Amino acid sequence: LSDPLESAKRVAAYKAVDENFPHEATGEVVVGIGSGSTVVYAAERIGQLPNKANFVCIPTGFQSQQLIIDNGMKLGRIEQYPEIEIAFDGADEVDYQLNLIKGGGACLFQEKLVASSSKKFIVVADFRKKSPKHLGVAWKKGVPIEVVPVSYARVLKDLYKLGAVKAIVRQGGSAKAGPVVTDNNNFLIDADFGEISNPQKLHNDIKGLVGVVETGLFVNGIANKAYFGESNGEFTTQE
Ligand code: A5P
Repeated sequence: LSDPLESAKRVAAYKAVDENFPHEATGEVVVGIGSGSTVVYAAERIGQLPNKANFVCIPTGFQSQQLIIDNGMKLGRIEQYPEIEIAFDGADEVDYQLNLIKGGGACLFQEKLVASSSKKFIVVADFRKKSPKHLGVAWKKGVPIEVVPVSYARVLKDLYKLGAVKAIVRQGGSAKAGPVVTDNNNFLIDADFGEISNPQKLHNDIKGLVGVVETGLFVNGIANKAYFGESNGEFTTQE
């Protein structure tokens, strides 16, 4: 790949699959496939494995479902497979303790459902996603929060009370007049809390608001390991 950013995404995803996938498994393996542009390469790599007929892949949204189908893999539903062996997903930001911000692509609820149902959750990302210390430094767009549509005004007010400096309902932009609607028919709020020193507390506080379905803060040891593609074509890991 000539684009260094795409190369970085690919090296992270390929290494993550090569080093963590249960390649020797002969029985059925349930695999979670995340959303975004980096996990595309993880799906590509998994799709190249000779025993791919053994894998059942659980998607985290519409894009992810297409990815599974396009790579010729077996598609499963989380209702049928609530126990996942390993999941691969991207992130918008990763802090020094492996806490994540996710939801830049609006798929955070199903991503969290899959991540928290997985024995092993591996993050794949490029060098831009690494925060020197806390969340809210590399990712400047705020914490994505999925809300039931009728509650958005209430939740916006409550987020300011919790200390948000800015909170907005995400809009479709030139692609759609009006709010982004998630795969679960909800709205998304992006709430900027500046630098987040205690993401677990912030997650708990936001999750406690009436109308909030899930937050894009992936905390409490949910991620086991992260692979970063670097600008020089190498990769680094964090666990
Ligand atoms: C989707 O809602 C997000 O959580 C993505 O996983 C995240 O935005 C990473 O996407 P990229 O790999 O495209 O950066």
